[in-house]
Amino acid sequence: MFPSLALFLVAGITAGAAASSSGCVGTISSLDDVSSAVQCTTVNINAFTVPGGETFELQLLDGTTVNVLGEIQFGNLSWAGPLFRVIGNDVTFNGNNQRWDGGGPFYWDGQGSNGGVTKPRPMMQISISGTLNDVYVVNSPAHVFAITNPGPLTISGATVDDLQGNYPNSRSGNGAAGHNTDGFDISGSDILIQNCTVLNQDDCLAISRGTNITFADNYCENGHGISIGSISSNVVVSDIAIIGNHVVSSLYSFRIKTDTSATNSVVKNVTYSDNVATNCTDFGVLITQSYPSNLGTPGNGATISDINFNHGTTSLTADSGAYRVAVNCGSGSCTGDWDWSGLKTSGGKAGSIINNNLITGFVDTQ
Ligand SMILES: *[C@@H]1O[C@H](CO)[C@@H](O)[C@H](O)[C@H]1NC(C)=O
Ligand SMILES: *[C@@H]1O[C@H](CO)[C@@H](O)[C@H](O)[C@H]1NC(C)=O
Ligand SMILES: *[C@@H]1O[C@H](CO)[C@@H](O)[C@H](O)[C@H]1NC(C)=O
Ligand SMILES: *[C@@H]1O[C@H](CO)[C@@H](O)[C@H](O)[C@H]1NC(C)=O
Ligand SMILES: *[C@@H]1O[C@H](CO)[C@@H](O)[C@H](O)[C@H]1NC(C)=O
Repeated sequence: MFPSLALFLVAGITAGAAASSSGCVGTISSLDDVSSAVQCTTVNINAFTVPGGETFELQLLDGTTVNVLGEIQFGNLSWAGPLFRVIGNDVTFNGNNQRWDGGGPFYWDGQGSNGGVTKPRPMMQISISGTLNDVYVVNSPAHVFAITNPGPLTISGATVDDLQGNYPNSRSGNGAAGHNTDGFDISGSDILIQNCTVLNQDDCLAISRGTNITFADNYCENGHGISIGSISSNVVVSDIAIIGNHVVSSLYSFRIKTDTSATNSVVKNVTYSDNVATNCTDFGVLITQSYPSNLGTPGNGATISDINFNHGTTSLTADSGAYRVAVNCGSGSCTGDWDWSGLKTSGGKAGSIINNNLITGFVDTQ
C-alpha cells in the first residue's frame, strides 16, 4: 500500500546496518583473519608469521585506521613477492615501530635483483592515500617501500634497517651481502616523506615518476643516497623538494640519472635545501644523462631543467677519492635556471661539469 515508504525503510535499515558493521574492530592474527577484518574501519594486527609464498594483502575501506601491535615475520621462500601490500583511501596506518622482518639473510647473496636466488620484492607495496607512521622494516630481501599512492600521502618515522646487509656472507664473496635494497621507490604524486631512517645498500630514495614530492629531515646511510631516476622514456618528474636530510657514507649523495636511451621525459624544478652529506665515497652530486654509466656518452632525449641548490645551504664533504660534483648532460638537454649558490663542498676532487654555463653561484671548493 505504501511501496515507496516500505522501500525507503528497507534502504534505511540496510544502510544503517552497513555503517554500524564497518565501524567494528577487525583483528588479524593470521592470513585467515584478513578477509573479515578488512570489513571494519579499525584493523588491529597482532604478531604473526605470513607463510612463505603468500602476500599479506590489506584492501581497506576508505578511512580505515590500522594499528600494528606485534612483530610481523615472513616465511623464508624464494619467490617473486611482494611480501606485503596495502591498498586504500584516506588510511591512517600506525606502525608503532613494530618490526616487519623480511628474513634478508636467508636470501642475500650480494646480487640483489640482478641475479642469484629470486628475492621477494618489494617488501612493502604501499598503495594508500593518507598517512603511514612509524613502520619499522628490518632485513628486507631486496627493495623495501614501493609507493604507488592513489592520493596525497605522508610517510613519517619509517625505518629501514638493513645494516646487517653491509657485511659479506658466505655467498657474497667480499662484497656486501645485501644489494638492491632501495629504501623508497616512488611512482606517485603528492607525497611527503619525513623523519625516516634508511640503512641500506642502494638508493635511499628513488623517484621514477611523479610531481609534488617532498623528502625532508630523513637520514640515509651507506647506500646510494637521494636519487631522481633512473628516468626511462615518457615520464615526468617535477616539483621536488629535498630538504634537511643527512646523507652519510654513501656512494652518491644527490643524484639525477636519466637513461642514455630515454626519450620524451622531463625532470624539472628540483630544489635541494639545508641538507648535509658527509663521507661521500664516489660522487657528492652527480647529474647524468648516461645512466647506467656515471660519466658515459650522454643521451639528450630527456630534458633536465631548473635544478637548484638554494633556499638554505646544502653542504657536502667528499672522501679523498670521490668527486665532489659532476654534471654530464647531453647536447641541449639541460636547460633553465640552475641556482647553486647554496651548495658548499669540501674534500675529494673536482669532477667534470658539462654545461657549466647553466649553473650560477657555485664555487667548487676543496
Ligand atoms: C628467515 O631466515 C632469516 C635468516 O636466517 C631469519 O633471521 C628469520 O628469522 C627467518 N624467518 C622465519 C620466519 O623463520
Ligand atoms: C621521528 O621518528 C622517530 C622514530 O620513529 C620518533 O621517535 C621521533 O619522535 C620522530 N620525530 C619527529 C620530530 O617526528
Ligand atoms: C603536495 O603534496 C602534499 C603531501 O601529500 C599535500 O599535502 C599537498 O596538498 C600537495 N600540494 C598540492 C598543490 O596538491
Ligand atoms: C617548484 O616546486 C615547488 C615544490 O617543491 C613548488 O612550491 C613551486 O611552486 C614549483 N615552482 C614552479 C615554477 O612550478
Ligand atoms: C665512509 O663510508 C664507507 C662506505 O660506507 C665506510 O666503509 C667508511 O667506514 C666510512 N668512513 C667514515 C670515516 O665514516
